[in-house]
Amino acid sequence: MRFIRRPRWTLPSSAETPEAVFASRRQVLAGLGALALTPAIAGGARAEAGLFPAPRNDRFKLDRALTPEADNAEFNNFYEFGTSKQIARAAAKLKTRPWTVKIDGLVEKPLEIDAEDLMRKLGLEERLYRLRCVEAWSMTIPWTGFPLSRLVALARPLGSAKYLRMETFNDPKVAVGQAKSWFPWPYVEGLTMAEAANELAFIAMGAYGKPLPNQHGAPLRLAVPWKYGFKSVKSIVRFSFVEERPKTFWEALGPGEYGFWANVNPKVAHPRWSQASEQVLGTRDRVPTLLYNGYAEEVADLYKGLEGEKLFV
Ligand code: MTE
Repeated sequence: MRFIRRPRWTLPSSAETPEAVFASRRQVLAGLGALALTPAIAGGARAEAGLFPAPRNDRFKLDRALTPEADNAEFNNFYEFGTSKQIARAAAKLKTRPWTVKIDGLVEKPLEIDAEDLMRKLGLEERLYRLRCVEAWSMTIPWTGFPLSRLVALARPLGSAKYLRMETFNDPKVAVGQAKSWFPWPYVEGLTMAEAANELAFIAMGAYGKPLPNQHGAPLRLAVPWKYGFKSVKSIVRFSFVEERPKTFWEALGPGEYGFWANVNPKVAHPRWSQASEQVLGTRDRVPTLLYNGYAEEVADLYKGLEGEKLFV
């Protein structure tokens, strides 16, 4: 992102990590920096009775191994808690229960619903997805959640709604990064209504068969795997159906580098680095990046007629 350099594939000298654990993780971490975490932080907290693990939807397959859970839990972007990748410990401070989600804007009737009620109402399934960060690293993860289209149906948007705007919590007392006034808090993201209705667009409330750990954006975050990772907004408190295209967090910071569309395309370089390949988190592999991150079949049609837009920035 604008304030992060591309990842430097070097391990920090992690004095906190017991030697044996450090040695065995060495192979999988393969140069991605990581600090030791307590199991409470790495593993996701209390499982809701009967909801986790949710049945896997086998239509969503991967062509590569899942990223080991510990690696995924220890390498994150969550600017609300700072610019380090090791923000799990800081993010653990966020209180995620109760958690009110507002659904408003151009809808038949605005509503407020607790995140846990939302998950019980809309049901849970597991899907294996890729995530490709704009910084040229990638991961694969078993998300648990529900299709965003179900939330849209619940909201009953009016015909005049053109975009879905999603907003993260804003609480600088808990999230130290939000005390930095040069960022345009709260974090905002958006999708067109057609994108929100696409079957790949997913709201994740869990990962690895458990409720979402805070650092992944508990209690609910977006997962849109054909777009660069910054579109997948974390810890959402508000879904608004709007007519105007929302100004997104990263677009406000660096419009030439991070746009509204942000679809993955190996042929369109970031102004400061190539997007042709990606470092696979938890391995030593650098692999070619795929158009729409490998999901062209599912999403390419969304962009017919929009060729004049900057679809890949
Ligand atoms: N959402 C919020 N609210 N704050 C953030 O800093 N970072 C984004 C995205 N969602 C971010 C966010 C970026 S840049 C990426 S790559 C993904 O979250 C990372 O998700 P992960 O940490 O679960 O891998």
